[in-house]
Amino acid sequence: MGTQDFARAKRELRKLTLVTCYDYTFARLLADTAIDGILVGDSGAMVMHGHRSTLHASVEMMCRHTEAVVRGAGSKFVIADMPFLSFRKGVAAALDAAQRLMTAGAQALKLEGLKGHEDVIQRLVQSGIPVMGHLGLQPQSVHAYGGYRVQGRTEEAAQDIVGQARMLEELGAFSIVLECIPAEVAREVTEALRIPTVGIGAGAGCDGQILVLQDLLGLNVDFRPKFVRTFLDGACLVRKAVESFEQAVRAGTFPAREESFE
Ligand code: KIV
Repeated sequence: MGTQDFARAKRELRKLTLVTCYDYTFARLLADTAIDGILVGDSGAMVMHGHRSTLHASVEMMCRHTEAVVRGAGSKFVIADMPFLSFRKGVAAALDAAQRLMTAGAQALKLEGLKGHEDVIQRLVQSGIPVMGHLGLQPQSVHAYGGYRVQGRTEEAAQDIVGQARMLEELGAFSIVLECIPAEVAREVTEALRIPTVGIGAGAGCDGQILVLQDLLGLNVDFRPKFVRTFLDGACLVRKAVESFEQAVRAGTFPAREESFE
């Protein structure tokens, strides 16, 4: 999978599937699936480190997670998030951050928003770095919104998203994540673009979907928003497995003879 395959998927009406990942073990499992790509999201600051927002992700943190994922991901297309403010301190600083993430093994970078860093997006694209946009709810702006709220609900806000999406396409982005916007707005954006949209909480009209892996697996017990479907009761399975281990040890049935050395 490469950026051309993203465009081809849209042309051929084949839905794109992406999930987030932050570590080697899960990346190794994802390598054996048919998903199109892996996002090393800055959501890792919350999912892996327990922070209350993605503002705590740093370039250093993202590089370590990207390296671990790339070691396990096989031939999967790996996109890394540019963390909070790393692309807002001027083009030179953004290029430094981008260089670190790309040499950590990412094949593309995702940046939230557009306004005020159009020059960075343009320079990344001109430097041969595939850029994925991210519009709608941008978690790095959570404090400006006053919480994690659906965006694009008014006609003006919806048209603003459509306009920004068109601009991202013009600047050379290969795809755009649309997060938490009304399904109709996401459909309008999707129909207005040649590049594919990848939705999360943006309805079925997008060209593909992405979910946080731990949400999809039902491992994120404290986070069950409307747009998440859990495809596994992972939390229950993990607890049951650990309880079985605990009981087997106390009952003296683990380790058995065949699990011991002569
Ligand atoms: O960081 C992340 O996990 C993301 C997805 C929600 C798209 O940006």
